[in-house]
Amino acid sequence: MATATTLSPSIITSNAESTNLEVNPPTTNDGPFNPKKHLAFAPPARIYTMADIGLPPDVGVSPVAVSEPFPLFTREAVMRMRDEALAGPVLENCQYSSSLAQSQLRGYADKYAPFIYAAWKHPTTVDIISRVAGIDLAVQFDLEIGHINLSRKPDNNNNNTVATPSQQPSSCSRDNEPIVGWHTDSYPFVCVVMLSECSGMVGGETELRMGSHGGGGGGGTLKIRSPQMGHAVVLQGRYITHRALRALPLASLPGGSDSEEPERITMVTSFRPRDPHVRDDTVLTTVRPVSDLGELYAQFAAYRLEMLAARIQTQLAELRSSTDATGKGERTRMGVEARRLKEFLREQRDFLERTEREIVDEQEVVKGVDTDSVRSDPSIDSM
Ligand SMILES: [Fe+2]
Repeated sequence: MATATTLSPSIITSNAESTNLEVNPPTTNDGPFNPKKHLAFAPPARIYTMADIGLPPDVGVSPVAVSEPFPLFTREAVMRMRDEALAGPVLENCQYSSSLAQSQLRGYADKYAPFIYAAWKHPTTVDIISRVAGIDLAVQFDLEIGHINLSRKPDNNNNNTVATPSQQPSSCSRDNEPIVGWHTDSYPFVCVVMLSECSGMVGGETELRMGSHGGGGGGGTLKIRSPQMGHAVVLQGRYITHRALRALPLASLPGGSDSEEPERITMVTSFRPRDPHVRDDTVLTTVRPVSDLGELYAQFAAYRLEMLAARIQTQLAELRSSTDATGKGERTRMGVEARRLKEFLREQRDFLERTEREIVDEQEVVKGVDTDSVRSDPSIDSM
């Protein structure tokens, strides 16, 4: 059962009727996801480091801050993804709305989208994202595979169409507003893939707030241009305050004719460090209001406990080998080991406490309202 603000089928139907939208027949199914056929990876022209944008070296889990857009999926793969994500069952059962983004599709991939699910779980895809991110990554958990942000006006030239819950006309005042305001993400890394044809658009950049550590960023902002269809951007969004700027049709520029806001569909998949011994600062602030909480908490708790189990196994192995090293079943250098042991136990206690804090009672979660993603983050504010 969805616990956040789901958009009922009746709302979707009425929007579709009022705008004469139709979901076109699906594209040809050319088999399961195949990295040789469906990946089109080419390295990004530039990768900005945390130092490049003026952040201290101890902020984040990787030296990489953000990539320029790079080709990731073929056009055929993108069309398959659109077919799956914009299908009736997904729109009926997995559509959410929040104060951060008006229309989102979440938690559908493992139920309704086998191609999308396989694309993101494939080791070759994960390896590509890890190489760009500068750290070995794993998909955050299944619920965060292929999160879709819808921000569009109908475009009859595309193969798939879908009604958004509210389609306001573009105006000068809105043009200057970001689509998503300043915030940090819940998850360490994010990969954003464009599923729309954007050649007729301007704007849509991701703007990053830079620090002044080491004189690197000068305290200004850095704009990363929007990816084209099938292209991706990788961002260490948990540690970098950023916002999404609005995309506009070229015709809306001075001298152009009035034009409706174009379709812009992005697919966002989140990642965390694969190594359970690496620090994990995951929170659930941005996703709690737009998730089935039972599902979210189960997947979140499962991977956190798996991490803890792995850490405990490593510590146990160290303790046993330390004991065996004496050859007499006795432990030497107890003082040093006691300090290390207490440090380990404190770290795991904090890890468990942070895990517990993120599991907020359902009655206290304001559905559809992200109340705390834009907040003071000590690691960022200290820049
Ligand atoms: Fe973000």
